Amino acid sequence: NLNLKINEKKHAEIGGIDCNDIASEFGTPLYVIDEERIRDNYNRVYNAFSKNYKNFKIFYACKANTNLAVMRILESEGSSIDAVSTGEVYTALKSGFTSDRILFTGNNVRDDEMDYVHNSNVRINVDSISQLKRLAKIINPDGYKISFRVNPNVGAGHHKHCITGGPMSKFGIMEEEAVEVYKLAIDLGFKPVGMHSHIGSGILNPEPFKLATEAMMKIAGNVFENTDVDFEFLDFGGGLGIPYKPEEPILDIENFAKEITSIYKGKLDEYGMGKPDLYIEPGRYIVGDASYLLTRVNTVKQSYRKFIGVDSGFNTLLRPSMYESYHHIVVANKANEKAVENVDVAGNVCESGDLFARDRPLPKIDEGDLIAILNSGAYAFSMSSQYNSRPRVAEVLVNDGGAELIREKETYEDLYTKQIVPKRLLKD
Ligand code: LLP
Repeated sequence: NLNLKINEKKHAEIGGIDCNDIASEFGTPLYVIDEERIRDNYNRVYNAFSKNYKNFKIFYACKANTNLAVMRILESEGSSIDAVSTGEVYTALKSGFTSDRILFTGNNVRDDEMDYVHNSNVRINVDSISQLKRLAKIINPDGYKISFRVNPNVGAGHHKHCITGGPMSKFGIMEEEAVEVYKLAIDLGFKPVGMHSHIGSGILNPEPFKLATEAMMKIAGNVFENTDVDFEFLDFGGGLGIPYKPEEPILDIENFAKEITSIYKGKLDEYGMGKPDLYIEPGRYIVGDASYLLTRVNTVKQSYRKFIGVDSGFNTLLRPSMYESYHHIVVANKANEKAVENVDVAGNVCESGDLFARDRPLPKIDEGDLIAILNSGAYAFSMSSQYNSRPRVAEVLVNDGGAELIREKETYEDLYTKQIVPKRLLKD
């Protein structure tokens, strides 16, 4: 169920290129991104939904991966963008997305950030009454179109940190206050035209999505019946999961789209709401399985346990340390060899939690072997840091049998460009 191909040399490949060749050419650690896979993933979701409901749009959640080449690929496919910060709005505009194709869904947003988004002509999806009232003070609300993020009181996710709906979540407004909030927006002069929710991330089971769709449609229907709001769009957020373990199921996107659109259309009819646009905001589903992190084994150590030491760490791929996420590991130069022992694959950061895998069955690994860490396209580079004063790594795009550098690795200089040492501390 994973996006893994093995060539006749028994080497792992990505986008038709041998991982060992790319690693030799560009060095490690290295993110390798498969353009075709991103396009396929996008189109699989787009086709599945749009054939059930014509007014359908994908707002790619670019927090998953904001590389400009990735953004360009999705722009050329016709995607729109879910942006959660002014930096993401800036990146989307810079990548050629027109402002009407960007929706800003911030949390705990500052006034100057709202000002920036508004001046960029980008729509604001409001998260709280506080934000609404402050927005009314800093812009002229007359006729300005906004939407609200609601908490449908349904949440799900691969880890408790990734559940964004339900009673523990800091996001959105509550069902009980929705009618009042939309009325308040109208009283302040705004034109509310949309509703949004996002229940969490990394969800493979369609059931919570179905519950959330029903719950949000109930809230939207209630707002529609009790205010003058005419919805132009309803946005159900992202969260579509991908398998990280070989035995995990694949989300049946055809069936999923059929079920969600059927609930959607049924509720629109029930409330007589017309045909507002249906948006979703997948991030992981579009880019997650389109990239590997390649990292080289430099140390094999038999200590109390057997450690396979590689040349990257949680500064480069945080998910295993932060969420104990499983990422499938393949020895790229022995890709079809059977597992012979359980080992810990350890990074090079000076923390004990810096492990890519604990007790993982793998083939016999030697120093110099190349490790491919799968599913490293989403929340991977975008969550990387310079911790331990390690410059961030390079990224390569593969397409049509060719490989192009799309991000140079940082230099030591890059670690210090923004620091200022007071004159009095300088050595003369
Ligand atoms: N829309 C909103 C408003 C979101 O907050 C998110 C993700 C998405 C869409 C896209 O969710 P996706 O389709 O990618 O699941 N760093 C975590 C994931 C955090 C997701 C945050 N919000 C991880 O590595 O698993």
